Amino acid sequence: MGTANKTAIITGATGGLGSSFAIHLAAQGYDLLLLCKEQHLLDAQATKLAKEYPVKINTITCDLADKNNLDNALKKVRELERIDYLVNCAGYSENKNFCDEAIDDALRMINVHISSTVQFVHTVLPKMIQRKDGAIITVSSLAAFLPAAGSSIYSSTKAFLNSFMESLHMEVHQYGIKMQCLCPGLTHTPFHSNKESDINVPCIDLWMEADDVIEHSFRDLEKGNIISVPGFLNKSVKNTLHVIPRKFYYKLTEKINSKKT
Ligand SMILES: NC(=O)c1ccc[n+]([C@@H]2O[C@H](COP(=O)([O-])OP(=O)(O)OC[C@H]3O[C@@H](n4cnc5c(N)ncnc54)[C@H](OP(=O)(O)O)[C@@H]3O)[C@@H](O)[C@H]2O)c1
Repeated sequence: MGTANKTAIITGATGGLGSSFAIHLAAQGYDLLLLCKEQHLLDAQATKLAKEYPVKINTITCDLADKNNLDNALKKVRELERIDYLVNCAGYSENKNFCDEAIDDALRMINVHISSTVQFVHTVLPKMIQRKDGAIITVSSLAAFLPAAGSSIYSSTKAFLNSFMESLHMEVHQYGIKMQCLCPGLTHTPFHSNKESDINVPCIDLWMEADDVIEHSFRDLEKGNIISVPGFLNKSVKNTLHVIPRKFYYKLTEKINSKKT
């Protein structure tokens, strides 16, 4: 039996949801390996957490779209003796029709959302299987169920993640490994521009706080819910989609998008 402390890896650890994951896991006594692109944000995050929680905090500055950066990060992950949690949280939004987007930007998003996630999971899973323990949470989005003009790559990369995580669940649940694809709806984080943060519907609060989303995620992990959709309204949206005729859905999203622009 190794003596290494329990350890969690979190990508996108400086963002709204990533920070909340980091705080929750540090509070549960996990040593942390935090990754994001901007070194000064990562340093500030590590210093803040180290002051509040008696856990070891390591950081890797890494642009997940950059192959060399990613290879270097994966090498460091391979060196870890023990990995209990992997939280794939890094991501960003898109607001352009596909043909208006440079192909390199589209590929960059595919690399951050899909390729890096697939490679992190492929790196940590064999160790988890060996220990017959561990959990992987990949942050997808309600957008995975909501294809829309202006976010073709965003929505489809998130849909990939849902399918990927569900398939993996079927491969590894017998080893006691927990899988989850977290699909938040609108959540107050820096992910949104100020304009988007003004999205409001009278009498309906579409927005959630990051901490509430993360608490929901941990509860669903315990319950064994692989696709985790936090919030009553978000769940209702997801469930209603099955019964809306597709042609009506296309018209509705077109209308919503034309109001945004
Ligand atoms: N907020 C929402 O309403 C919402 C809804 C549904 C799903 N989500 C998903 O939740 C996840 C976290 O979003 P958030 O709301 O916490 O957003 P956020 O506050 O903007 O945080 C995004 C995080 O991802 C990191 N990141 C982005 N691009 C990266 C790259 N190329 N390489 C490495 N790290 C990168 C950022 O690090 P740097 O600052 O260093 O770039 C940051 O730590 C995303 O996957 C997003 O799609 C968010």
